[in-house]
Amino acid sequence: MLDAAPNRPDLPAEIARRRTFAIISHPDAGKTTLTEKFLLYGGAIQMAGQVRAKGEARRTRSDFMKMEQDRGISVSASAMSFDFKTFRFNLVDTPGHSDFSEDTYRTLTAVDAAVMVIDGAKGVESQTKKLFEVCRLRDLPIFTFCNKMDRESRDTFEIIDEIQENLAIDVTPASWPIGMGRDFLGCYDLIHDRLELMDRADRNKVAETIEIKGLDDPKLAEHVSAHLLVQLQEEVEMARELLPTLDPQAVLEGHMTPIWFGSAINSFGVKELMDGIGEYGPEPQPQSAEPRQISPEETKVSGFVFKVQANMDPKHRDRVAFVRLASGHFRRGMKLTHVRSKKPMAVSNPVLFLAADRELAEEAWAGDIIGIPNHGQLRIGDTLTEGETLKVTGIPSFAPELLQGVRAGDPMKAKHLEKALMQFAEEGAAKVFKPMIGSGFIVGVVGALQFEVLGSRIELEYGLPVRFEPSQFTSARWVTGPKAAVDKLINANKQHIGHDNDGDVVYLTRLQWDIDRVIRDYPDVTLSATKEMM
Ligand code: G4P
Repeated sequence: MLDAAPNRPDLPAEIARRRTFAIISHPDAGKTTLTEKFLLYGGAIQMAGQVRAKGEARRTRSDFMKMEQDRGISVSASAMSFDFKTFRFNLVDTPGHSDFSEDTYRTLTAVDAAVMVIDGAKGVESQTKKLFEVCRLRDLPIFTFCNKMDRESRDTFEIIDEIQENLAIDVTPASWPIGMGRDFLGCYDLIHDRLELMDRADRNKVAETIEIKGLDDPKLAEHVSAHLLVQLQEEVEMARELLPTLDPQAVLEGHMTPIWFGSAINSFGVKELMDGIGEYGPEPQPQSAEPRQISPEETKVSGFVFKVQANMDPKHRDRVAFVRLASGHFRRGMKLTHVRSKKPMAVSNPVLFLAADRELAEEAWAGDIIGIPNHGQLRIGDTLTEGETLKVTGIPSFAPELLQGVRAGDPMKAKHLEKALMQFAEEGAAKVFKPMIGSGFIVGVVGALQFEVLGSRIELEYGLPVRFEPSQFTSARWVTGPKAAVDKLINANKQHIGHDNDGDVVYLTRLQWDIDRVIRDYPDVTLSATKEMM
């Protein structure tokens, strides 16, 4: 977290009430179900079940492709805004599949906090751990939801220990489960000292809250069987002795995570989690930028593009750039400066993502995500301001881990292919390199599924069947340094040199040995596996 004190007195109330976050989890832990319940409590959807299509669609590869083709669904699910009590929540979706880690990484640059969902029977799984590490790079505050407590799950202390040990973060229980599996009754709310009872008969019903005066209150016995009550009293006593108490500052700094236990499908524990995000979650945070940091309360509007989605309507080749507002109060029709091109840009039809609907955004505040339809001017990493030359930093592009050659099925269509590839490269869906020697393009991705998605989108959106073929290269590194040194490297290694879609030089190889040799022989040149999006 950057160095701004929370509760700054001059932060406008509209900004202070915003909570912008993402959910991180391993597939199947319950992210979709939890999202659905968030929207339900946020009044954004009438009935649970509307986000369902997405959860199910993701299950198989072919269904996943269908989902990708149905751009509407994935777009509206990319960012969702809803009100909960006095708060405005902006939930930014992270792509579910592990193959899209780069996209996920960039999504996490647009949020101020994350909700980590774990399955009570499975604990911390691989994908959760990976995503958690990304959050840690930015010290994002983490709110943990231990889901599926209505099923047989692990011992509560064991779950907490596993998170502490695996993720090296302090865990403080915000609630404590009573019974488990078939005997799961609900939770004891450790923050408010009250009992929350789950309703098994109606999955969409909000839990019944029973106000009590501490764990010795005789009223407890009316709701909890003697055996479970003794267990609860013992466990909570032990938890209070052994586990750290909630420290709001440590939560904001990302050193401590409060954990709620619940069952998303039974709507249980979700509201308490939302209360927690509202109360202990961060307001919109300052954004790192060059030459100076941007503070949300600045009156001038600024924002940056963290995601681009193209071809929502193949006939028009339109794109939506997802912009996280970093400062100010945005109003529809405003003229902003597109810093990279130094050109003004009238933002006349911005979109706010209110659950399943897209609505024209009349206004938005720092912390909000708006969609700006455009014809390709806006790229990932771009900064928009009211005139000042500021460049948001920290939105990297990663060197792809898999490279393949790509050819159009019809050789006459090579130009079309180039156009399609450039478009996807700008969208961030793949890296595209043009080797100096030879014809054709090399496409690089982080996960193999991206090749399939790319192939199917080129065919669907450009009517162009393509073939991927093995490439002689397996690694790409961006080359930077003084011009003379870079030119010297290029001239002596033409067969290894290519350019990316921004025209930047890359060194392509299949051997780590080659990379080590270049580092040794060209000390003035830097080879790098990430590039800041310009
Ligand atoms: P994901 O987005 O993280 O992948 O998970 P998703 O919400 O799709 O949930 C994965 C499975 O876990 C779903 O079951 C869902 O119904 C179930 N689930 C979610 N929350 C709970 C819970 O609190 N308790 C229990 N017992 N199950 C839960 P599925 O059979 O794969 O799909 P479906 O047929 O229910 O749609």
